[in-house]
Amino acid sequence: MKVERKPSPLLYPCPVVLVACPSDGGKGNIITLAWVGVACSEPPTIGVAIRPSRFSHGLIQKSRDFTVNIPSVEILREVDYCGVFSGRDVDKFAKTKLTPAPAKRVKSPIIKECPVNLECALKGVHKLGSHDLFLGEVVAVHVDDRLINEKGEVDYTKTKPFVYIQGQYWSLQKPIARSDVGLLEGDRNLRKIRGR
Ligand SMILES: Cc1cc2nc3c(=O)[nH]c(=O)nc-3n(C[C@H](O)[C@H](O)[C@H](O)COP(=O)(O)O)c2cc1C
Repeated sequence: MKVERKPSPLLYPCPVVLVACPSDGGKGNIITLAWVGVACSEPPTIGVAIRPSRFSHGLIQKSRDFTVNIPSVEILREVDYCGVFSGRDVDKFAKTKLTPAPAKRVKSPIIKECPVNLECALKGVHKLGSHDLFLGEVVAVHVDDRLINEKGEVDYTKTKPFVYIQGQYWSLQKPIARSDVGLLEGDRNLRKIRGR
């Protein structure tokens, strides 16, 4: 039996990211976001939903760019701080001791302590209601070289990401299977179907 609940954005898990943008005369501002997702592969585009009341909302509309910084569990407390306090009242870079570094193609800073940084050029803002959807085209990606294995691939076991589920942060344990191999059919059958 399924129980019907009232409509809500009950989608889980959600990524937790730090979005950074320039701030007038300061090192920049950081906002923690969980309403975040990939919106398009080509051009690579990320969608982030931000309430108009957030300080970052106006800053990003002004800068027309932002960076998406993917944190690891080591900076969980800093991530939470950036999701509780506003840049209107506090310099979050100074308070958390997170380090702003210049991006390559946008004005917004990237955050050094995050192993992966996506530089995004603002492509549009869609008013939806409580939140506005900011679409950012990814114009540069940075990956900490300590995460890259000998094959040149990112070793995600070293990235230590975490996710957000309805008011809680959850860690991710380990990969459980490869995707796109036809798990139901079994690898061998899929190879047959695809003629490999
Ligand atoms: C885990 C977490 C996820 C959050 N996700 C969002 C979000 O997706 N959109 C949003 O507008 N605010 C979100 N917030 C709230 C903002 O991060 C928070 O209001 C922040 O203080 C705003 O900072 P600013 O005023 O400096 O922009 C989240 C907070 C936390 C702790």
